[in-house]
Amino acid sequence: MRGRERIQYKTADQIRLMRRAGLVVADALDAVRAALHAGVTTKQLDAVAEDVIRSAGAVPSFLGYQGYPATLCISVNEEIVHGIPGSRSIAPGDVVSVDCGAILHGWHGDAAFTAIVPPAQGSVDERAAELVEVTRGSMWAGIAAMVEGERLNAVGAAVEDHVGDRFGIVEGYGGHGIGTQMHQDPHVLNYRTRDRGPRMKAGLCIAIEPMLTAGDPGTRVLADDWTVVTRDGSRAAHWEHTIALTEGGPWVLTARDGGVEELAALGVRANPLAD
Ligand code: MF3
Ligand code: CO
Repeated sequence: MRGRERIQYKTADQIRLMRRAGLVVADALDAVRAALHAGVTTKQLDAVAEDVIRSAGAVPSFLGYQGYPATLCISVNEEIVHGIPGSRSIAPGDVVSVDCGAILHGWHGDAAFTAIVPPAQGSVDERAAELVEVTRGSMWAGIAAMVEGERLNAVGAAVEDHVGDRFGIVEGYGGHGIGTQMHQDPHVLNYRTRDRGPRMKAGLCIAIEPMLTAGDPGTRVLADDWTVVTRDGSRAAHWEHTIALTEGGPWVLTARDGGVEELAALGVRANPLAD
């Protein structure tokens, strides 16, 4: 709530350290994407990510977090977030959300993507493809709304406006401040609220992570106490980036180009800091 939140604003040098953690997460997710094929198990994908993270001298941040047992969250079809990797093998046509976090030199990065594994025959289900694309687009719309002096809920409003009535927006889960912990203030909602939140200023580092459903956005948690699924069994998608707001604009720490290309398409100039 406004006034009670304690936001840890980062210096330019601290943001540069977070960038290094962000790139480790980007590398891990790229490797998982390359390994994501029908027949691979979610546990195998988890091992791919853990290898990349440890080889970079970093540590998986989800592993051991409140007892969480893996490096990745892998959430398939009606699973929205926090799916635990295991013996499940990925099937053709699956909608697969992969979420990854890493700590390097004490600083966190956190990002996620959703991809559809090509079906054995025919083309990818159109509604599922649109779900993935609208979720991705809503994340970028939220990132583009990170403007110094504007209020934080501009992010949630931009996500909501991008989604419109095309898909359900999951409530009860959202983005977060990030830095020397994975989860810090402020909480970053994926929809518009009356409380427009604190004014954004340089040094604000947040993870923006919209979760959308093809049907009703109602959720429940499975008996494993982690996996969040849609109540109606409809499919879900989840995208996430870690972003720093610098004096010259947003820098997407978990995007290889810092967000330059995607933000330019939205008329926003990203501001990767020089080393
Ligand atoms: N990226 C997710 C988040 O921001 C993943 C954390 S789940 C846990 O909340 F596995 F780490 F617990
Ligand atoms: Co997150």
